[in-house]
Amino acid sequence: MKKIILTGDRPTGRLHIGHYVGSLRRRVELQNSGLFDKIFIMIADAQALTDNADNPEKVRANIQEVALDYLACGLDPNRSTLFIQSQVSELTELTFFYMNLVTVQRLQRNPTVKAEIQMRGFSDNVEGSEGKAGTPVGFFCYPISQAADITAFKATTVPVGEDQEPMIEQTREIVRKFNSVYGPVLVEPDILLPDNAACLRLPGTDGKAKMSKSLGNCIYLADDADTVKKKVMGMYTDPTHLQVSDPGHVEGNTVFTYLDAFCRPEHFPEYLPEYESLDALKDHYRRGGLGDVKIKKFLINVLESELGPIRARREEYAKDIPYVFEVLRKGSEEARAVAAKTLSEVKAAMKINYFDPAVLSELIK
Ligand code: TRP
Repeated sequence: MKKIILTGDRPTGRLHIGHYVGSLRRRVELQNSGLFDKIFIMIADAQALTDNADNPEKVRANIQEVALDYLACGLDPNRSTLFIQSQVSELTELTFFYMNLVTVQRLQRNPTVKAEIQMRGFSDNVEGSEGKAGTPVGFFCYPISQAADITAFKATTVPVGEDQEPMIEQTREIVRKFNSVYGPVLVEPDILLPDNAACLRLPGTDGKAKMSKSLGNCIYLADDADTVKKKVMGMYTDPTHLQVSDPGHVEGNTVFTYLDAFCRPEHFPEYLPEYESLDALKDHYRRGGLGDVKIKKFLINVLESELGPIRARREEYAKDIPYVFEVLRKGSEEARAVAAKTLSEVKAAMKINYFDPAVLSELIK
């Protein structure tokens, strides 16, 4: 069987280093590994609209930002198909058919949907009251549309963050149900999670569990070196580590979590030759006698070595926006052809392909 990747992001803001270690960096490695037959990277604008229906300008503006982030990280349009979800209308058709295979009760149990409904305050208000009045149906159903995104490309592998696990599980259920009712058309995908715990869910610079635009605790891929420096210097460390001489905690210390996600052995000879490894640095911090400023300065260098080249490429691509949109247009066309093929197989399996010549001649016989 072919090995196919599909993944994507909602264009609701620029991408940050949580996206990077959680998925983007991995995608580029997978792309360059040559182990996959096809790679589809989708800008999920239709999904973004499920909770931004009143803010189309925001979604539109971020198409370009996300595309620039992709290209800057090393996603290569010659090796990966970059496309925009809404331009592949076959996805909405598939969604509509899959809706019959999922119950409201099952969706209500989806832990990510549950958490997101709560976070957005959709269930707090009654109809007619001020603020948000209930959960948009489209939002509630987005796991089904995500199943359409994945299965339209017969993806075998979906590299995403941990929060997307319930979506992939729901997709697998839909595939099994579809194939058992209509015949073996769809492919059950596997999730591919980051292999390093720090990358699984990178905390915000304030130490909060999640890096998120609404919490204002992000380091963006597009941030300039000065901004990154300021953000790192203001980072949450260990509140009990008041004096340099105090013993410190490494677990739950955001600077060390970021080092776990970004630091490589070669960074030591380059930026901190008095330590042999991250473990040696951690040991010293635990013993006491190692100040926060020193580890923060090291982190700034480590981040800069990875983010500097990304930022430079981003600036280059930003000078040629027509190229960026040409990549997306071509990618969307290509994606559409693939999704159309799956859709026609789906319709045939569901016996709604009345005008296929062979079927029609049966019907009018
Ligand atoms: N839900 C994903 C996010 O929040 C975006 C997305 C939409 C996606 N469809 C997908 C990811 C299909 C992987 C596969 O970023």
